[in-house]
Parts: sequence; structure tokens; C-alpha cells
Amino acid sequence: MSPMLEVEAVTAGYGSVTVLRGLSLHVDAGENVGLFGPNGHGKTTLLRVLSGLIRPAAGACRFDGMDLTLASPSEIVTRGLVQSQQGNTLFGDMGVAETLEMAAFTKPARARARVTLDHVYALFPRLAERGAQRAKTLSGGERQMLSIGAALMCAPRLLLLDEPTLGLSPKLKEELAVALKEISTTVPLVVVEQDVELLLALSDRLYLIEHGEVAREMGKDNSPDHQEIMEMYFGEHGA
Ligand SMILES: Nc1ncnc2c1ncn2[C@@H]1O[C@H](COP(=O)(O)OP(=O)(O)OP(=O)(O)O)[C@@H](O)[C@H]1O
Ligand SMILES: [Mg+2]
Repeated sequence: MSPMLEVEAVTAGYGSVTVLRGLSLHVDAGENVGLFGPNGHGKTTLLRVLSGLIRPAAGACRFDGMDLTLASPSEIVTRGLVQSQQGNTLFGDMGVAETLEMAAFTKPARARARVTLDHVYALFPRLAERGAQRAKTLSGGERQMLSIGAALMCAPRLLLLDEPTLGLSPKLKEELAVALKEISTTVPLVVVEQDVELLLALSDRLYLIEHGEVAREMGKDNSPDHQEIMEMYFGEHGA
């Protein structure tokens, strides 16, 4: 069976700056894949390529048979490859509930919107308590929850998460970690995460990304422990 997501020898960057240098990886159906590596080595850039926000200069990317290098961001979301959005685009004058309802814009997502909304509120009781609150007045951690909730409303078949716990207080981080573990049992993830414990808890398989390439792939049979991952971040493999 071919992988659900396949990235083959992708080269991509910004203008004349090349960031990804022939990067290849795959995600099989139903597995959770973790990405880690030093800052500035291309993890976010890879997710932007997968979401259709950056066109690669070379290489191939396929999701469920769709050529991601030709598809628009909304076609990619409609197909079920959804990234939890960072930044402020989600956080306008609309209320929390309204933001979540609007996020279910694809046909399959609309059909399930009521059930998914209940699921999102069960995962994130803080959002349920703040249904009428304007999204832009949420705290940082609550915004992160709203971003992930909105991504879930799109009925993802593969969910992309870029450092979901970055900058959160220990308490909110713990709440989010519990929800992410729950999500990972029903929706396959590709997750970039700096918290090694959470990264290991969420991932079936890991890729170490360095200098825009996969430097190492680690599966269940050669799964690293916390200490080994830390050495890869800061040791001889470091930047
Ligand atoms: N919009 C942009 N224009 C120009 N260069 C960019 C842009 N975004 C990122 N870069 C550069 O691309 C390189 C890779 O960045 P990227 O954000 O993919 O790294 P990362 O692995 O996600 O890092 P981090 O762990 O810090 O999030 C960096 O050198 C960064 O400065
Ligand atoms: Mg990044």
C-alpha cells in the first residue's frame, strides 16, 4: 500500500534562499509522525509546503493521490490534510463558537459539524466556557486550543501541528498535552514539538530534520529515549 503522505526529494525555500534540500519522508495511513531538529532547519517550511503555501522548486509531494505541489491550500484542506493555523488570522471579532462553526467549511466537515463541535468542547472545556467570547481576547493557550479545535472542525484525515505547546504556561501545556494525546488516538498527526516527553508520547515514528534534510528516521524498533533525543538536539548532530 502506498503511504498516505509521500514527500520525495523536495527542494524549497524563500526567493533565492534554499531551506529544504532534497527532503524525503512518508506517513503511512493511521500513524503519528513526529518531527524535530534544531531551530531554523526547515520544519515549518516543510509544513508550509504540505499546506500548499510554498511551491517546491523540485521534488514531489502527494497526499492520498493528490499532487500537493499543484493544489491550492483550500483544495488540500478539503482533501483532509489540515494544519492548525498559527498567527492571528483566526482571532478576529468573531466569537469562539462562531469561529469553530465557520471552520467547518468543507462538505464532509459541514455534515458532521454539530458532532465535531461537541467533541472539540469535550477536548477543550475552556473553549466551551468561552463560546461567546471574542476570539481575539483569548489567552495564548486558549488561542492554541481554538486553532486546534478549528482544524478539527475541518474533518482532518491527517492533522499538521507546528509546536502546539510553544510558549504556554505549565498548566495550559499540561491541559493541551492531555487533549493532544486524546486527539492522536483518533486523528493521525504530523507534529513538530520541542517538548521531548510529549513528542515521544505522541509519535509512532520520528524524523530528525537537519539542514533541510532528514538526518535520521527512528521507528518503534529503534525508538530513542528522552536522553538520546536531547543529545540529537544539542550533541554532535546539533546545529
Ligand atoms: N518568510 C521567510 N522568508 C525568508 N526566509 C525565511 C522565511 N521563513 C523562514 N525563513 C528561513 O528559513 C529557514 C528555515 O526556517 P523554518 O521556519 O522552516 O525552521 P524551523 O525548523 O521551523 O525552525 P524553528 O525550530 O525555530 O521553528 C530559516 O533560516 C528561516 O530564517
Ligand atoms: Mg518552526
